Amino acid sequence: MAIYGVLGDIHGNCEALAASLAGLDGFGIDRLLCVGDIIGYNADPDECVRMLRERDALCISGNHDLIGIGQLGFERCSNKAMHSLKRTRRTLGIESVAYLRAVPSHRVLEEKFLLTHGGVRDVQQYMTRPRHFLENAAYLRRDFPGINICFFGHTHEQRIFEVDEERVVELAGDGPVSLRPDRIYFVNPGSVDASRKRASKLAEYALFDSDTLTVQFEAVAYDDVATEHKAAMAGYRIDRWRDRLYDVQRRLVGPRHVETGAP
Ligand SMILES: [Fe+2]
Ligand SMILES: [Fe+2]
Repeated sequence: MAIYGVLGDIHGNCEALAASLAGLDGFGIDRLLCVGDIIGYNADPDECVRMLRERDALCISGNHDLIGIGQLGFERCSNKAMHSLKRTRRTLGIESVAYLRAVPSHRVLEEKFLLTHGGVRDVQQYMTRPRHFLENAAYLRRDFPGINICFFGHTHEQRIFEVDEERVVELAGDGPVSLRPDRIYFVNPGSVDASRKRASKLAEYALFDSDTLTVQFEAVAYDDVATEHKAAMAGYRIDRWRDRLYDVQRRLVGPRHVETGAP
């Protein structure tokens, strides 16, 4: 039984991660958990890995982590993601690569809850629709019997979905939410990185009390101007000509050809 800080989709944004960790420090958490996508999009992948290691965070792999270390290709990536991940591959330090190679795809904690990145069986699945949650609730029952709470990432939005037999209900997350032991839940703590969000540049995370099964969403401001400036200067942002070039390459010879630009 513990109070967990749950975060994910950091995407190499060390300003947002630092703000999130400072916010979590105010709650006195027992353990830090990360649902993947530590790297990608922004200029500080090594620093983000280092910060999580320093906190002894329990992490799982996201698709960006796997692509960044060459264990997954660019086939299901947007041009924007592919461009930043090619840059990430060129800069990622050997210690970060070794760490990311050792991170598991899933973690079960307290025999009570699961960490996954996308879907339970597909790291790149976007779980957004009721049918996705019904499908993944079935996978959860089969692959992780007895587990009824699944923290996930990838969709970058703070949301809680409750599955009861064949019914999926989204719960309002604007205050503490108590989870029932007899239902299945999919909880996304949001995205630490907000560089691709237009509405608000807030780093998001969640608190989870495994004793009372209570989830609480939090969000905190960070220096997004500094993040954006660094990313642009270091070549992590794609221009429209490169974007078009990738489109042409994908049409002509498929995404595998585009992949050859990375080491
Ligand atoms: Fe992500
Ligand atoms: Fe992802």
